[in-house]
Amino acid sequence: MRAVAALQEEVRALARERDAVILAHNYQVPEVQDLADFVGDSLGLSRQAAAAAAGTIVFCGVHFMAETAAILAPGKTVLIPDPDAGCSLAASITAAELGAWKAANPGAVVVSYVNTSAEVKAESDYCCTSGNAKAVIEAIPPEQEILFLPDLFLGLWLERETGRKLKIWMGECHVHAGIRPADLERWQAEAPDAELLVHPECGCASQAMAFANERTHILSTEGMINFAKASEKRRFLVATEVGILHRLGKEAPGKRFEPVREAAVCKYMKMITLEKLRDSLRDRKHVVTVPPEIAARARLAIERMVAIG
Ligand code: 13P
Ligand code: SF4
Repeated sequence: MRAVAALQEEVRALARERDAVILAHNYQVPEVQDLADFVGDSLGLSRQAAAAAAGTIVFCGVHFMAETAAILAPGKTVLIPDPDAGCSLAASITAAELGAWKAANPGAVVVSYVNTSAEVKAESDYCCTSGNAKAVIEAIPPEQEILFLPDLFLGLWLERETGRKLKIWMGECHVHAGIRPADLERWQAEAPDAELLVHPECGCASQAMAFANERTHILSTEGMINFAKASEKRRFLVATEVGILHRLGKEAPGKRFEPVREAAVCKYMKMITLEKLRDSLRDRKHVVTVPPEIAARARLAIERMVAIG
């Protein structure tokens, strides 16, 4: 415990010295969340990156998020403590695959979830996160054909929410896809008094929608935090990556939060440790850059995302 506190102090001192702001995603390990300047979901962190006053942004999250920060904050140095922190969902489509999909669907508008590489964003018209995906789809004229990528479950949820027919890429996040309808059914039986908070990337999201009851809520990670804080209920079942439980416990003390699946752990998010964060600040590594012509095209899609919802 003392070692953790000392390391956190070292990181804070280095951040001050290096004029750095520390951004952390809701899935980061508790000791990283606890010292970050901002903890949030993909959308919130993108907004923080765009508005950052500090010269350096250290991004405690996965690589596509740090790339998004680099695109939104040109002129700032963006560091990621481990450049191998990837994302199975972002890896499910390449720019070449998207190019072929677009060629097969001329005239369609491309909406990409933020969990994509900068090259894929550069080929997209709009970017969105789980926090504003619905608002982004609704901002597009109803007669316009839409290619939605890369998450199958989020796409199906959007179809249901907006009543629009989308062409959906068959990608998935291995962590969220692993949260199955059976996990929800078990809890519906075992905890009938609990509110159920479900991330739309989950393999069980369609099942959750089918419950269509007032205690089931499909939300982004930040949406879960806001809901739990505002709710008068005391018990919540959480269907997303388990890192969110730390923040839920801090922001809504006295309430009970349980994961529907304890094994829902993103190994990429957990690659960021306090030691790597310290080394990143101390040695100014690993700098995340995006080639200017890719960044310029991707920025248009990302700025639409940040502006909507
Ligand atoms: P949000 O933080 O946008 O809810 O997304 C969750 C996620 O899986 C990010 O990788
Ligand atoms: Fe990617 Fe899934 Fe990990 Fe999120 S939880 S970073 S979508 S692999």
